[in-house]
Amino acid sequence: MDHFTYKNGEMFAENVALQAIAAEVGTPFYCYSTATMVRHFSVFRDALDGLDFMICYAMKANGNIAVMRTLAEQGAGADVVSGGELERALAAGIPPSKIVFSGVGKTEAEIAAAIAAGIMQINVESEPELEVLSAIAAARGREVAVSIRVNPDVDARTHEKITTGKSENKFGIDLGRARDVCARAAKLPGIRLVGVAMHIGSQLRDLEPYRAAYGSGVALVHQLRGDGHAIDRIDLGGGLGIPYFEDGEGEDLPSPAEYGAMVKDVIGDLDCRVIVEPGRVIMGNAGVLVAQVIYVKEGPTRRFLIVDAAMNDLLRPSLYSAHHAIDPVRQPDAGATCETADVVGPICESGDTFARQRLLPPMESGDLMVFRSVGAYGAVMGSSYNARPLAPEVLVNGDAFAVIRRRIEVADLIGFESMPDWFDTTRPKEATG
Ligand code: LLP
Repeated sequence: MDHFTYKNGEMFAENVALQAIAAEVGTPFYCYSTATMVRHFSVFRDALDGLDFMICYAMKANGNIAVMRTLAEQGAGADVVSGGELERALAAGIPPSKIVFSGVGKTEAEIAAAIAAGIMQINVESEPELEVLSAIAAARGREVAVSIRVNPDVDARTHEKITTGKSENKFGIDLGRARDVCARAAKLPGIRLVGVAMHIGSQLRDLEPYRAAYGSGVALVHQLRGDGHAIDRIDLGGGLGIPYFEDGEGEDLPSPAEYGAMVKDVIGDLDCRVIVEPGRVIMGNAGVLVAQVIYVKEGPTRRFLIVDAAMNDLLRPSLYSAHHAIDPVRQPDAGATCETADVVGPICESGDTFARQRLLPPMESGDLMVFRSVGAYGAVMGSSYNARPLAPEVLVNGDAFAVIRRRIEVADLIGFESMPDWFDTTRPKEATG
């Protein structure tokens, strides 16, 4: 459930008309709903009730500091995967004691920053990383809480680009090596082995892969305890899928409650603190991208709605062939006949297509539309390709809205560039001859 609904013939985000925001900030822009975020967070939290748990929101889904603060006020911690995300999480006010650091390629500088910040735990994904972490921690006279991220070799049955728990994926330590790696960890200075971690993929539509992977994790905890390690945490990662289609067709997704029941069933009386890292399920349906139709172009075989948002603003359709529901901001008349169209952006690639042969209510040049379910992996994956500005982000809260990232203009981007000193002027000489 979200708070982007029609009222008096036009689409609102909570109590604010999207048209009113567009008039103030221009298009395209991302718009997030506080009430939706808070609701999704509380549904997820309630689903885990009864466990000793911590929700470390996977901020890669949406790391805007205002979004993070909203979730922090609900009690969220953060799962970070880079020094940059760590910096953002701290800037947003997430307590270090609620931050976990995942990722296969943490640099020495990133590890040092995480140790300096005193975060809750580092999820180690390889043996070389473990050695580097030990050296850095020991040199600083610190002891760092470490979980070993294992790769359970389970097929998450999701898109190949976002599956992470198969042995051919770069993530985690092979389950068969985990005990040896933990034995090594126990001998290394600066390391306090506390747990086991995993994350098998994103947009999971099925609980069975989770059940299999979590079952392996629980078995490993027992083995490690048998080996003499004091394991008291298990990090289950994120990945729960969300509905993307208008009518939910073909999307028989497990609810957070069903996910929570499965977790409780598998964890049983393991006597571990359970860490979860949801991203999409919290933010996905809490955001829309608002765009304006520039032209309607009648091609020989297709009708194109050319809009002012493009693949640089929302990459998912181009990268994963992802489906995002599209709705006009002005509510269509009850009897309006839908027509098929390709919805495309202005970028010079055919891949800059949001939807092909989509049945849509009538829309004309100047009309506003929304792409739904873009609160996760939308703005964060944006770029300035084709020298396009980075779209602003707006947060709605009841009757109020605030720009939480202004449009990053091309002039701002040019400001990061510089002309080498072998050019005498900032303008090229006229070519001669
Ligand atoms: N924990 C770890 C270690 C992760 O790598 C991820 C996502 C998550 C948690 C959160 O997963 P979620 O609950 O959001 O599914 N850009 C892709 C998604 C990439 C997900 C990467 N890892 C997309 O747009 O679908």
